[in-house]
Amino acid sequence: MSITAVSTPNIAFIKYWGNRNDSLRLPAADSLSMTLNSPHVEITVDHADTLTVRSFEADGSEKTLKEKDIMRFARHLELTKEYLKKLASSAQTPTSELTNVTITVRSQIPSSIGLASSAAVFGCLAKAYAGLVAASAETSASPLTDEQISVIARLGSGSAARSIYGGYSALRAGDGDAMDSSSAVQVADENHWLLHDIILVPTQEEKKVGSTEGHELAWSSSYYKKRLEEIPRRQKECWDAILAKDFEKLQHVVEEDCWDMHNVMQTSTPPLKYLNDATYRITDAIEELRETEHLPVLYTMDAGPTVHLFCTEEAVKAVREFAAEQKDCTIFETKTGKGAILLP
Ligand code: PMV
Repeated sequence: MSITAVSTPNIAFIKYWGNRNDSLRLPAADSLSMTLNSPHVEITVDHADTLTVRSFEADGSEKTLKEKDIMRFARHLELTKEYLKKLASSAQTPTSELTNVTITVRSQIPSSIGLASSAAVFGCLAKAYAGLVAASAETSASPLTDEQISVIARLGSGSAARSIYGGYSALRAGDGDAMDSSSAVQVADENHWLLHDIILVPTQEEKKVGSTEGHELAWSSSYYKKRLEEIPRRQKECWDAILAKDFEKLQHVVEEDCWDMHNVMQTSTPPLKYLNDATYRITDAIEELRETEHLPVLYTMDAGPTVHLFCTEEAVKAVREFAAEQKDCTIFETKTGKGAILLP
């Protein structure tokens, strides 16, 4: 019996950077994001004798997976089995066993747009595993909760925990070293506040240091401790701004946190320089535009030079025009989305 789930990336307003436990991807601090409504990833899973992973691009061509990618799926499956056993033994959820699986990934995320697909992939896979477990369990078994599914997603990619929910969600760092000591919750659903994300991609180069390795370097920056002290305040301000739909408050805290994360990255050993000249040119120009036209638009960047311009409905036309004027950039447009779902 095969199960298919669909999920999308999310973009953090308060960034997750650095773990207290790297192998379990237990974050050192809270984070908060908006789930996008596109592009999506679709994953089908089924029970099998051995683990097989196949991945297809948007044009239908099969991607050759690197050994490292397959190992990541294998490790994630082992951790998921361990977590499900833990739930079953504490009678929290009488789950069926998850043995080996075949995983088929069909991604609509163009590799050229600099959108981290791991959040969508592991959010999707967690949802699909939960569906497979529920379909194979006794009828009396209660399905996994979204919070439990977010733990499974987090074991594959920290930020993926947030893609389980639509709208706005937060990954709570929690304490200790238990596998499920950190999980995500929804802040507000996708109908609460529609924001657009106009994405400007200045380069199509693959990044040299991925976030899994990047997180491990966070502690080597002398600014990291200060970052960890500031995050609880920022997380609260961001959460409050979303609930109140206060764009100006959101803009201040999102940009403050983005520059702070990049400062930590740039001052780690070795330094991680994800931004390029085009990024700075675009963020300067947005600050100028905001000054002159009083537009509700904010920017944020993840582990790459891609600039996300978030804006309200009233500003979308002007931001689109701004984006079209930027030289040598690929533009992609998306907005607040629904989160991971199972296909019937
Ligand atoms: O989930 P990961 O390990 O790919 O880390 C994501 C890191 C950032 O995208 C830079 C920030 C975030 O919170 O999404």
